[in-house]
Amino acid sequence: MDHVLVTGAAGFIGFYLSKKLLDNGISVTGIDNLNDYYEVSLKQARLKQLLNIKNFSVIKTDLENRDGIENIFKENDFDVVVHLAAQAGVRYSIENPHIYVHTNLVGFLHILEGCRNTGVKHLVFASSSSVYGANKKMPLSVRHNVDHPISLYAATKKANELMAHTYAALYRIRHRFTFFHSIRSMGKARHGSF
Ligand SMILES: NC(=O)c1ccc[n+]([C@@H]2O[C@H](COP(=O)([O-])OP(=O)(O)OC[C@H]3O[C@@H](n4cnc5c(N)ncnc54)[C@H](O)[C@@H]3O)[C@@H](O)[C@H]2O)c1
Repeated sequence: MDHVLVTGAAGFIGFYLSKKLLDNGISVTGIDNLNDYYEVSLKQARLKQLLNIKNFSVIKTDLENRDGIENIFKENDFDVVVHLAAQAGVRYSIENPHIYVHTNLVGFLHILEGCRNTGVKHLVFASSSSVYGANKKMPLSVRHNVDHPISLYAATKKANELMAHTYAALYRIRHRFTFFHSIRSMGKARHGSF
């Protein structure tokens, strides 16, 4: 049976994705730090639902915890990693810049290293339509230039794409990123893969 690591499993997308995978007979290990960016009780309720399904387990830890993440990769044999945990929000990044670097850059590096050190071949991660920044060309395309982010959140997501590309080139970790675009309201997503 396939074993998938879903980071941010208590989050909005992570919850629905984990449920879908479990419903399809895939084993899921979730990681989440249950931070208070929005109601913790909502995240707890999602995990409670998932824990009622066979083959789901969750580890409460922070992506920044280098040894902790390293051990999770060593102790498991993940076929695929879906990296959704991130500090989201454009406005929040104006008041709280440091957390974006800690979670979205340092945390992402720990995920990439885990994939590299344990031979994970497929990594899927969430980018954001915010990477298009000052780009005015419509409709948006993965071929468009995204070199002009206008928030730190967008800059970290763009950096994630570059980091993943580097790891793919160096260590042959195939990755796919998806550009979610306010899916709570519009149900729209864009994808790119390498
Ligand atoms: N929902 C959208 O419209 C949208 C749009 C663009 C991009 N995205 C991206 O999609 C992904 C998932 O989005 P979402 O809407 O489910 O967000 P969410 O905030 O609901 O879920 C993210 C989860 O990650 C966890 N998390 C955050 N920092 C962590 C850390 N340092 N260590 C461990 N866990 C941590 C949070 O507790 C949360 O449960 C994110 O990467 C986000 O940037 C979402």
